[in-house]
Amino acid sequence: MLKPNVIHFDEIDSTSAYLKREADNLTNFTIVETDFQSAGKGRKNRKWYSPKGENAMFSILIKDIDIINRFPLLSLLSCLIVRNYIASLGVNNVQVKWPNDVYINGHKTCGILLEGRLPDYVVIGIGINLNQIEFSDEYRIAPTSVAKELGHKLEKQAFLEGLCEYLLNSLEQFKNNLYDVINEFNNFNYLKDKEVTFIDHDNELKGTVIGINDGGLLKVKVENTIYEIYSGEVVVK
Ligand code: BTN
Repeated sequence: MLKPNVIHFDEIDSTSAYLKREADNLTNFTIVETDFQSAGKGRKNRKWYSPKGENAMFSILIKDIDIINRFPLLSLLSCLIVRNYIASLGVNNVQVKWPNDVYINGHKTCGILLEGRLPDYVVIGIGINLNQIEFSDEYRIAPTSVAKELGHKLEKQAFLEGLCEYLLNSLEQFKNNLYDVINEFNNFNYLKDKEVTFIDHDNELKGTVIGINDGGLLKVKVENTIYEIYSGEVVVK
């Protein structure tokens, strides 16, 4: 079993920004974790705000070329790792939302952001709503947390230790081609059979999600055509 090397900060601008700044000086699989981020970053240049001490926020530096080479599948794999770990704690109906969120009972619980300088390194940033109970009402679909769904709070340190260990060992399996990311993602795919809208060449299209293909692209059926989407926002109707 691989044992994680975790650096803790009481407060930092962003765990991912730290790893990107220090990437050249740190080793593969270094993990940085914090109680508070003053400039937490989400996808699409959004902010990621989390009240101090309540949630799990960490990033992991990947310098292993066998993993970096399979970059397109890495965000899907990261979702699956978080999904499986949360499910292993006894939480029901934990799903992955393409390309990089984890949902419980239809509500977002975790967001993942991959950044990096290919082929040198990739930083996987993971934010999990762990013990937060109240959320602002700015969201179209209210987020949830592991504690809210379980009915009790969890000890953050123990949660993180277990997750980081599981993460490293899953990355090692992935590196050795022992992780069937596509099949597993399709099994827990939140978007499967849902009606969604997406943008294709400036046109908004509406279709039904079929699944993901072997390259990790989302397949959406619009009338008799199957579109394969590689990034961007997919909105559930
Ligand atoms: C998203 O859903 O938009 C992705 C959110 C990713 C947030 C995590 S928290 C730890 C790491 N540091 C950051 O600044 N962002 C990621």
